[in-house]
Amino acid sequence: MTKEMEGFVAKLTALGGGSGDSRDVYEDWAPTYERNLQQDYGYIAPRIAVEAFAAHCTDTSTQILDLGCGTGLVGEALAAHGFHHLDGLDISPRMLDEAHRKQIYGNLLIGDMTQPIDLGGRNYGAAIGVGCFGGGHIGPEHLRGVIGCVQSGGLLIFYINGIPYGQDDYPSHFRSLEADGVWRVLLTEKSNYMQTIERPGWVVVAIRS
Ligand SMILES: C[S@@+](CC[C@H](N)C(=O)[O-])C[C@H]1O[C@@H](n2cnc3c(N)ncnc32)[C@H](O)[C@@H]1O
Repeated sequence: MTKEMEGFVAKLTALGGGSGDSRDVYEDWAPTYERNLQQDYGYIAPRIAVEAFAAHCTDTSTQILDLGCGTGLVGEALAAHGFHHLDGLDISPRMLDEAHRKQIYGNLLIGDMTQPIDLGGRNYGAAIGVGCFGGGHIGPEHLRGVIGCVQSGGLLIFYINGIPYGQDDYPSHFRSLEADGVWRVLLTEKSNYMQTIERPGWVVVAIRS
C-alpha cells in the first residue's frame, strides 16, 4: 500500500470530521468518480457494506433507500445480491445522473441530509449510507434525521471513514441515540476500504427502534 492520496480524494480527506458542503466537489468529480476510486484506489466500501446488509436482511423485496447514493455503486452491489427495490438520494445532480444511467433505482431523489429529508411520503424498510459521513458530508448530529428515513424495526447500514469516526467520536453518538430509544446498534466493525492505501473505516449495523 504505497500509493499517495491525490486529487479529489486528498481534498476531501483533508476535511477530517464534522460536516460541510461538498456538492461542488462531487459535481466536478461525477464523470471520473468510479474510475478514480475503483481503479486508482481499489475502493470496496460498497461491497463491504452490502455484504453486511445481506447478512442482516434476507427479504429481497425490502424497500431500500441508498443515502448519498452517488453514482450508484452501492445500488449495483445490492442488485447483485438480488435486492431490486432501490431508491437513491444525493445532493449532487451530476452524481445522480451517473446513477440514473445504471437503471437500477426506482426513484432518484435530490436531497440534503443536513436538512429535514423530504421522502415524499415513501416508506423504507431499510437504508444504507456509504461514504457520506465526515468533513464535507454529514456529521453525527445528522444521524437522527437519516435514521428517521426508515420505519420502526427497519435496518440501517452505514460505512463511515475512520478519520471522522474517531475525531467526532461516533460511538458516543451511537450510545446517546440508543439511550434516547432511537435505534439499537447490532454491530460496528473495522475494515480497510481501499486496497491501494491504508484507509480504515467502520461498518455500522443498527435497527430503528
Ligand atoms: C464518497 S461519495 C459515496 C457515494 C456512494 N455511496 C459510494 O459509496 O460510491 C459521498 C456522496 O455523498 C453525497 N453527499 C455529500 N453530502 C451530502 C448531503 N448533505 N446530502 C446528501 N448527499 C450528500 C455526495 O454528493 C456523494 O455522492
